[in-house]
Amino acid sequence: MTTAQQTEAFIDKLLQSTRGAFEIFGMYLGVRLGYYRALSESGPADSQKLAERTGTYERYAREWLEHQAICGILEVDDESIDAKSRRYTLPEPYQEVLADEESVNYLGALPIIFAGALRPLHAVVQAYKTGGGVAYAEYGADLVEGQAGMNRAMFLKEMGSSWLPTITDVHRRLLSDPPARVADVGAGAGWSSIAIARSYPKAEIDGFDLDQPSVEIARENARRAGIDGRVKFHLRDAADPLLAGQYDLVAAFECIHDMADPVSALRTMSHLAGPTGTVLVVDERVGESFSTTKNDIDWMMYGWSILHCLPVGMADKPSAETGTVMRPDTLRAYAREAGFKSVEILPIENYFFRFYRLIP
Ligand SMILES: C[S@@+](CC[C@H](N)C(=O)[O-])C[C@H]1O[C@@H](n2cnc3c(N)ncnc32)[C@H](O)[C@@H]1O
Repeated sequence: MTTAQQTEAFIDKLLQSTRGAFEIFGMYLGVRLGYYRALSESGPADSQKLAERTGTYERYAREWLEHQAICGILEVDDESIDAKSRRYTLPEPYQEVLADEESVNYLGALPIIFAGALRPLHAVVQAYKTGGGVAYAEYGADLVEGQAGMNRAMFLKEMGSSWLPTITDVHRRLLSDPPARVADVGAGAGWSSIAIARSYPKAEIDGFDLDQPSVEIARENARRAGIDGRVKFHLRDAADPLLAGQYDLVAAFECIHDMADPVSALRTMSHLAGPTGTVLVVDERVGESFSTTKNDIDWMMYGWSILHCLPVGMADKPSAETGTVMRPDTLRAYAREAGFKSVEILPIENYFFRFYRLIP
């Protein structure tokens, strides 16, 4: 390729990325305004009908419908007729992705977490200059809700049917008497705790998180799930050495890389597990080492890292300055420093996560 052709190809790549960004934020409107749900539940609609179903303004609904059709998300019956008379359909295969929160293929939470990650963008720019951080709270409700929505269905479907049964000694203990106790650190909106409680009807779970809104949402989620008697959420720092208790399973789902002091958190997890409990860390399935070609999801994890996870982890000082791309060797080093003998990678397949058992 000539230099001019390479320039052209690069411009084309950037324009395609711009198209993707507009698609994501168009999806944000579609999820937030209930457009996808209305099209999924009540069928095809023209702009007036969609506006009526969702309590929105026809002219905006029309623009959104046209954008979605141009992007290839919605299908239009007849594009040659008058704009207000055109009917749009959300194709059936897309419905679970955009409108069914119970599906493991649901990605309606993606634009929500995206918007959250961008909320304090100016503060992030400033942090890059000063070496400071951006507090988790600055990312607001979209981030918390989007994070929860990304993992919710996967936790509820996979936790007790696939992930934990793979760890046979833990699985047996969770099913047995006396009731097993589980600590879930960095529990966020609580779906991992709720998934464990649902799968193991005897188990008692304590979820810990230091974000007050997340703890409140988690309590409400447990109440709605009807299991708030067995699942309690506490506003606590996982790195706090005063965190006490004796647990059969101490788990951390997708949160160690966010922590300013992951070593202290792992040390606390070790205390909570005692000599007989199991420490489980579930974190991003990033590559073993830096590579621009070999790792399939590092592009996404670096994306979250530059905007959110690294600034969040640098809000408290001193900080380990980890970021989303916490490679297995990084976790091994943290675990060793926290007093663990070794780290075992468990044979559990997942697109996003790698499962680590920390051996005392
Ligand atoms: C990416 S979210 C993951 C939430 C949840 N585990 C999930 O998988 O959906 C990270 C969570 O870790 C929490 N967190 C970060 N540092 C923490 C700490 N030191 N102690 C307790 N929670 C912490 C954040 O408040 C946030 O809720």
